[in-house]
Amino acid sequence: MNIAANPVIEADQTIYLKDYQKPSFVVDSVDLNIQVYSDHSLVSSKLEMQRQTAGDLVLLGRDLELQSIRLNGQPLNASDYHLDAEQLVIANAPDQVSLEIVVKIHPESNTMLEGLYQASSDLFVTQNEPEGFRKITFYPDRPDVLSVFTTRVEADKKYPVLLANGNLLETGEVDANRHYAIWQDPTKKPSYLFACVIGDLAVMKDHYVTSEGRNVALEIYAEEKDIPKCKIAMEALKHSMRWDEEHYGLPYDLDNYMIVATSAFNMGAMENKGLNIFNTSCVLADEEYTTDAAIMRVQSVIAHEYFHNWTGNRITCRDWFQLCLKEGLTVFRDQSFSEDLQSAAVQRIDDVAVLKAHQFPEDSGPLSHPPRPDHFVEINNFYTATVYEKGAEINRMMATLLGKEKFRQGTDEYFRRHDGQAVTVEDWVAALTAGSGVDLSNFLTWYNQPGTPKLQVKAEYDVETQIYRLSFKQSLKPHAKYPNLKAVPIPVALALFDAESGEQLTLNSKALFENGVKDGMYLFDQDEATIEFSGVAAKPVVSLLRNFSAPVNLDFDYSEKELAFLLQYETNGFNQWQATQTLLERILLDDQPAEIYIQAMLNTLPDMIEKDPLLASRLFDVPSEGYLGSRIDQDYQPAMIQEKREALLHTLARAFGETAKETYLSLDPDLQSDFSQAMGVRALRNIMLTMMARQGDASAFDLAYERYHTGNMSERLGALKVLVWNDAPQAQEALADFYSRFEDEALSLDQWFMVQAAHPKATDATIAYLTQHPDYDLAVPNRIRAVSGGLNANPVNTWSFGVQHFIGLAKYLDEKNPIVGSRLLQVLSRWYTLAEPQRSEVKAQLETLKPLVKSKNVSETLNSMLSV
Ligand code: TRP
Ligand code: ZN
Repeated sequence: MNIAANPVIEADQTIYLKDYQKPSFVVDSVDLNIQVYSDHSLVSSKLEMQRQTAGDLVLLGRDLELQSIRLNGQPLNASDYHLDAEQLVIANAPDQVSLEIVVKIHPESNTMLEGLYQASSDLFVTQNEPEGFRKITFYPDRPDVLSVFTTRVEADKKYPVLLANGNLLETGEVDANRHYAIWQDPTKKPSYLFACVIGDLAVMKDHYVTSEGRNVALEIYAEEKDIPKCKIAMEALKHSMRWDEEHYGLPYDLDNYMIVATSAFNMGAMENKGLNIFNTSCVLADEEYTTDAAIMRVQSVIAHEYFHNWTGNRITCRDWFQLCLKEGLTVFRDQSFSEDLQSAAVQRIDDVAVLKAHQFPEDSGPLSHPPRPDHFVEINNFYTATVYEKGAEINRMMATLLGKEKFRQGTDEYFRRHDGQAVTVEDWVAALTAGSGVDLSNFLTWYNQPGTPKLQVKAEYDVETQIYRLSFKQSLKPHAKYPNLKAVPIPVALALFDAESGEQLTLNSKALFENGVKDGMYLFDQDEATIEFSGVAAKPVVSLLRNFSAPVNLDFDYSEKELAFLLQYETNGFNQWQATQTLLERILLDDQPAEIYIQAMLNTLPDMIEKDPLLASRLFDVPSEGYLGSRIDQDYQPAMIQEKREALLHTLARAFGETAKETYLSLDPDLQSDFSQAMGVRALRNIMLTMMARQGDASAFDLAYERYHTGNMSERLGALKVLVWNDAPQAQEALADFYSRFEDEALSLDQWFMVQAAHPKATDATIAYLTQHPDYDLAVPNRIRAVSGGLNANPVNTWSFGVQHFIGLAKYLDEKNPIVGSRLLQVLSRWYTLAEPQRSEVKAQLETLKPLVKSKNVSETLNSMLSV
């Protein structure tokens, strides 16, 4: 039997990239007939297959009850094939095969939210990426097998909506109670992009005319009461379609595009061809019910899934090791899209904040892996910040280096070469190289090795020669599994500023060009190098890694004064923010005084609040306790970090004094010219309110209470946090009011759970109250995440009673929903950095879990976590 085609037969269950082999059969067409009944479903399939290489015919299948199987018209006996828990193998199959298979499945009791499952009393949906299709029927369920799908869906008429990918060919009645629809998707696709939906849903309709003149029907399906909340998503969809035409020359290719919203969903959303399925949290957006942050997220996820139509669907992955090929590129594309929706600097700040808060810690701990892993046990464990966010950064680096025009020539070449294919990361980099004429092959190193490079920079100024010299050095922490770590190409965007006037200096081009510095961008691709700037009249202030031009840890010995200077004079908004973060990290972790930061903030703010209130709000970001903890590799004491951060917040609140209240009162979101400005003003007001409460200003709670009652969800929630987290007299009343207002609005109610779980003084009793609440539901990942995410907002709590909470969830979900169970367990992955005795205590608790877990998902994560 050939190993690569049968992914799970190695004893230790590890699958290796190096073992990849082409499938022995291709599938020319597949006909599905899916009949849904209340206590089971029947799936009949007809596969037309052709031999491509020697070897067994392998069909993957899991939890299927095989009813019958025929090969070229002849029924097969059990002795004609080998069937186990993972696959059905036919040895010596002829070169042309027509297979007819009938299986029975149980979507009504499928709690894993994978394959076909009942999402609510009136909805069935599918989730097939990466390996869910094998839970619907036997199939070569791997992304390099592409086929044309024709799907008949049949169900009770109480489910009027019957959807599948592609064009609707036919609808009809079976009998008085049942009806059917037949769909055909003309585009060849892998099975992970198959979808069908059976349910009772309302729909919002619109249409879009592509650059090629194709009139596309747009439909968003949701519960009746939620249809008004689909407007923002619909606008974002049309905007994305236009954006992809304008920026990448990519028009949509079918006559319809459907989106279905469900609250029972493991992740954000799924790009099934022409039939996206979304978590309600990523479609429904409305100022009354959801926050500004949620509205931004909806727009970016809508764009993300739409952009997958080309980067993922038309061109897909050869195997799951190449996941970052589609995800890294699509995240880069949705980030670029979002930069056009709001302050571009703020979008970059938010994206980098996510990278640093999730990907950097992941990459420095036991779950560290290359953006393109070379082995895995359970692929679902690799939908990670590293694959998505670091993957996006690699694409961003290549795009920045090439510039707009050449990057476009590169992507054009990619779509020209590979449309309709399943390809690799190498194919992508080769196409970019060929199209742009710039050799990018050394960027493959970024894809193939783990770890965040450390970039050390030293500066030297010589008054005599007027030369300013920068020396660069890069290094990576040694990694047990990857002994041969190499230098990576690091694009360093930089600027020099006159220290007196704050003016940006023109970089002396001749000498710089020889050193590879062009347009303020230096490509550092060795272990060490030095570059020189000549004709620099006085010691300048350098700004490095502008716009975060590479995902590295920068080590440069800035003085506090220089950081304050950059906050005031740097024109790149991202680096202004970065200067505040570096200053704050020093105050927090190195016990530096706060005065310089505060003075620089007071100098900068009045202007900035006028110009870009959203950016101004971000300058108040104080690194979270979680992030600060993730920068500590041993003897981590969460309580100490909390104490220091609290002290800083108090110092800041006192230092800003009356400014807080004055700013609060002077701002009005209703007077802003656009959503981005209004969002900024709302964010600033919430910050000021929090500061006033910290100052002990008695009027803060009254203002918050008033804001709670009059504002939209962003203001309401900001005010509610101030009341609840400070145990204000009005807190319980506001919580009760919130509950009765939003009892029937799941996404809003999630916030009610989150606010209470995130109370800094929450205890295990708080969590017990929330998890025993009648509205808590372990079958709905959003609700679990609301409580768990809230709890984890306070690491002191995570590492005390939170440990049992997360271990308990992992144990329960191991069986019910291992994808989510594995993710929640990862919250504890940095246990080994804790100071003793906590470290040993948590370790002992994790070890009790070991003999109890069965799923590959949870056990792979647990094993990796314990292997440090
Ligand atoms: N491909 C999806 C995206 O990034 C994400 C995804 C992968 C997913 N596996 C999933 C979504 C399982 C839901 C459930 O757009
Ligand atoms: Zn994606």
